[in-house]
Amino acid sequence: MDDWLRACGRDELADGEFAIVELDDTLIAVYRVGEAFFAIEDVCTHDGGELAGGRLCGYELECPRHASRFDLRSGKVLGPPALTDTRVFPVRLSDDAVYVRDDRWDD
Ligand code: FES
Repeated sequence: MDDWLRACGRDELADGEFAIVELDDTLIAVYRVGEAFFAIEDVCTHDGGELAGGRLCGYELECPRHASRFDLRSGKVLGPPALTDTRVFPVRLSDDAVYVRDDRWDD
């Protein structure tokens, strides 16, 4: 668990809520959807706006600025004006807590 960062306790987030953590100078929004947790970079690929706090519909997160939509599970862009996917991060549940990890430099 060395390179895993504790984001929050499992019970700290209700369905649809999020927590923001900083990992390697990157802001990550950790969302709860039902009993599952997802970690997405908190930066919209359209114009750099924060994604967290945008409208959430199922797994679809809408940017609060110009309404681009992203899939929380994959980071795939689902609706314009953004044209580029955003990043997602691995999530692990352990000891009643939610952990995230930056896998950018994994081989
Ligand atoms: S900054 Fe997100 S849609 Fe423009």
